[in-house]
This record gives sequence, structure tokens and C-alpha cells, in this order.
Amino acid sequence: MARHLITSAIPYINGIKHLGNLVGSQLPADLYARYLRARGHEVMFICATDEHGTPAELAAKKAGLPVAEYCAQMHATQARLAEGFGLSFDHYGRSSSPQNHRLTQHFAGRLADAGLIREVTEKQIYSNADGRFLPDRYIEGTCPNCGYDKARGDQCENCTKQLDPTDLIEPRSAISGSTDLEVRETKHLYLRQSALKDQIAEWIDSKTDWPLLTTSIARKWLNDGDGLQDRGITRDLDWGIPVKRGDAEWPGMEGKVFYVWFDAPIEYIAATAEWADATGGDWQRWWRTDKGAEDVTYTQFMGKDNVPFHTLSFPATIMGSGEPWKLVDYIKSFNYLTYDGGQFSTSQGRGVFMDHALEILPADYWRWWLLSHAPESGDSEFTWENFQQSVNKDLADVLGNFVSRITKFCRSKFGETVPEAGEPGAAEAELEAALQARLTAYEQFMDAMEIRKAAGELRAIWVLGNEYLQAAAPWATFKEDEARAAMQVRTGLNLIALYAVISAPFIPFAAKTMREAMDAPGEWPSSAADALRALPPGHGFTVPDNLFTKITDEQRESWAERFKGVRA
Ligand code: MF3
Ligand code: ZN
Repeated sequence: MARHLITSAIPYINGIKHLGNLVGSQLPADLYARYLRARGHEVMFICATDEHGTPAELAAKKAGLPVAEYCAQMHATQARLAEGFGLSFDHYGRSSSPQNHRLTQHFAGRLADAGLIREVTEKQIYSNADGRFLPDRYIEGTCPNCGYDKARGDQCENCTKQLDPTDLIEPRSAISGSTDLEVRETKHLYLRQSALKDQIAEWIDSKTDWPLLTTSIARKWLNDGDGLQDRGITRDLDWGIPVKRGDAEWPGMEGKVFYVWFDAPIEYIAATAEWADATGGDWQRWWRTDKGAEDVTYTQFMGKDNVPFHTLSFPATIMGSGEPWKLVDYIKSFNYLTYDGGQFSTSQGRGVFMDHALEILPADYWRWWLLSHAPESGDSEFTWENFQQSVNKDLADVLGNFVSRITKFCRSKFGETVPEAGEPGAAEAELEAALQARLTAYEQFMDAMEIRKAAGELRAIWVLGNEYLQAAAPWATFKEDEARAAMQVRTGLNLIALYAVISAPFIPFAAKTMREAMDAPGEWPSSAADALRALPPGHGFTVPDNLFTKITDEQRESWAERFKGVRA
């Protein structure tokens, strides 16, 4: 048994997330957390809402609420939706928590003590039309690196380059579109990331097992001439974590807050502290290598646009503190999910959002499709046809149908207990061997977080059951050899108990229905042989409700129409 710390990139507070956001971090992180728990490991799975920055301020303004109030409400909404999707966080925190205030100020103090922070009087863009300083991401313009004309002042979405707003060509206010911008002087803190460049490069170089998507993005920004530049970590905003040096005031920085990207990753630690305060647990055991975390394996999940912040900026904060904090061991990053030939768009309401998804279908339908099509090696595309096909075939025809046929047949011929008669023969030995090979492959892919491949093995394991049932045909066998039919049914019932356990990381709700119906022990099988004998003769079960309902063509068409754009 090992100890695993798992974090998902923390979603912005400003609105309900779409399925592309979900599959890019929270959902695969949940898959992995559920799997490791099922394998008997000790898991701490952390997520939170990312509540600071201008997007939060503007969304609150639009909602007509004070920003603290808005964040509290939206956090509750996102927490409810996360629960609806079965995301099994040990804690779903808030980056605005007192714990995060303390830790963020602590890190800033340590970095200052280490000489890694410098004060810079800089010129910042002030929008006369908006009557405020414009934070980086509220300035738009053309990317100097790739020419994309909707690059934001903090980062170009198109080429992932981290930017400063003054880098942009033809800048404009993203709030009002105004180009009436002027430059004013203001004082800010900069983290001297450049001083940590070698240390970070060495650390990245040691990560030979990381996915190429992760290391190539990190290397690109480390080695590209202007690589690891010093970063401003403060902003002229009202909402955020006040700039302090540990517990002490920071002269000259009154009225300023830390930059959202400085405090957001620290919330991974702070959320664990929130968990500890709520449960009486010990958070340092997960985060401080001097307090028990040296044997923790730490895995982060995120979309590719988050990679620079997790491979460079956050490690700079941690390393620069000079304290023994746990650094990430493995970063699993994702490409984008596109929607029906275009992009998901929060502003245009294009695509399916978490609330609407749960209104129209149960979570498992979405979980299965999203995970089995996770954008791992490249972008992947959601289409309603593909979704309908996967659900109807994999879930309804293959898995659901199998479960219902076996349980119903058994009930009608032998009653609701596992039948005793008959000895397994050649077909069962063949099934067992095939199952063992698939199970081993499934475990290997899950260990390696190869999500699509793992889904492929799981599907193949469901198919094995179907093929076995089709060939064994206990309804026909029953007429000539009742004992043999009993044995075939017993094999099928045990397969359901196996499916209940191994499918749970992907489809936890249906898995629970199967497990309860089978009254199954629910432990991860040590082998296919054991799995096929887990339910002893005489063991009682019930016929579960239909696990999955097929998506009709009418449904598919009406949903495609409903979600094509402009969310009300
Ligand atoms: N809120 C960011 C996003 O959705 C992710 C922040 S991850 C963290 O892209 F590390 F900063 F917490
Ligand atoms: Zn660019």
C-alpha cells in the first residue's frame, strides 16, 4: 500500500464548466483516485475553486452580487455539480480560504527572505474608459510569437506562450474593447524565477518518465532564449489575498493583492489544510517531506494550457521557499476536447455544460464517453453521433444487456441465489485465460494513466462476458443439461461482480448498482480465477434495474439543436 496525493487543476469560479474543462483535469483525476483507492492505496484527492482575479470580479459584477457572495454561491454550485458527476474529492476547497491567505503570504515572505523577490516600479496599462488598471488577461491583442489576434495579456491560448500585456501588438481592453489605454506607474513584486532557472531545468530533466506533452511545453519555455523570466506576482485589485510578508505588512504594497496564478496552486496545499481543519487530519503528512510526505507520490492533472504554471512557476515558488515541500512527481496533461467541429465556448454557450449534461442524462453516460475519448495524444471531438453510438453500444448493448440477461435468466430458472451445480469446463478455462490477460493489461494502463487504452481493455472485458454468454447460451443448455446451465449462470453472475469492481473508476454509479445487486464483496480481484469464484453457491442477489437506456435518434437531434450555441 502506497500513499498518493492527487490534485486536479482548480476550476475558475466564474461560471459553470463545460465538458471540455471536465475531461481536461477533474474527471481523469477522479478516475485515477478511484482506481488507486480500489487497489488499496491511501489517497488524498484535492480540488478547489480558483476564486481570485478579474474574471471573478467581473462575473460577480455581471451577476449583481458582491464578489465574496458570488464566489460562495458559485462554489456551492460547482461543488454540487462535481458531486453529481461522482468526483470523489477528499476535499473541494476554495482558494479564498483563510488557510490559503496564510500560506500564500507565508510563501511570499520566505521568497523575500531568500532574496527572490524584487520590487519593481512599473508602468501598467490603465483604461480610461473602464476607469481601472487592466490586469493582464483583460488586455487583448495580437500574439508577438504566433500572430494569433485574440491573445490575452497573460498567455496566448493558441501557442501557450506566457506573455506580458506590453508584449501584445495593438492592445485593447477586453472589458470594453476600448483602445483608449494609457500607461501609469505602479509598484509591484516580481518573483525572480530567472535565479531558479538551472534548478528547475535540472529537475525537469530528471523527469524522464513524464509525458512528452508535459515536458515539451516546459522545455520550450525554459530554453527559448527569453525562457524563465521573472514574473509579477502582485496586482492592483480589490479582490484577492492582500500582499503581506508572512504575518507582516509589506511597506509600499498596501491595497494590492497577489496575482491569482501565484495563490491558485498554493491552494492545493491550503485545500489539504482545509481538509485537515474540517476532519482533524494531518495535512503536513501529505506535503512536508520533513513531516511524513517523503513516501508520498504526487500526481497532478491539468489541461495543456496549465502546464507552464505547474512545471515552472509553482515549482519556483516551492523550491525558492527553501522549505521541504513535496514537489510533483508526475504531471498528466491533456489536449483539448472540441465540440462538433468547433470549440466549446463559455461566452457563447456553445457545447454541453456540466449542469445541462446532468439534466439530460446520468453522470455515467458522460463519464464513459469522455474518459474513453480523453484528449490524450491529440485533441478529440465530441459529436452527438459518436456519443450516441458509444453509449448505446458499449454501455447498453454490451454491459447493460449482459447484466440484465444473466440476472433475469437466473431468477427465472434457479431463483435469486448463485446456483451450485456443475463444474467449469473448457469454455470457462478459455474465458478465464482471456480475462486474465485483459485484466493485467487494464491494470497496467490504469497504473500508467493511459486512459483511452484502459477504457479499451475494460470494454474488451465486457465484450468477453457477452461472447461467453452468447456461446454458452444457458437458455439452450438448460433444456439438456441443467447442471451445466447452472455453472454457466454462476460464471456470468461472477462476471457481474467483477465488472462492479473494475468498472467503478469509470462508471461509479452503475458499478454501485451492480455491486449492491450482487451483494458483492467489492474488493479488487487478485486474479481472474479468483474473480470467477468470488460469489459462492447459495449467495443471494437481486435483479438490478436496467443499467442504461439507449439514446434515441430524436433525443440526439434535439440535444444537438439545443446545445449548438448561445446559452440563455
Ligand atoms: N483556474 C485555472 C484554469 O482553469 C487552473 C488553476 S490550476 C492551479 O485554467 F494550479 F493554479 F491551481
Ligand atoms: Zn501565440
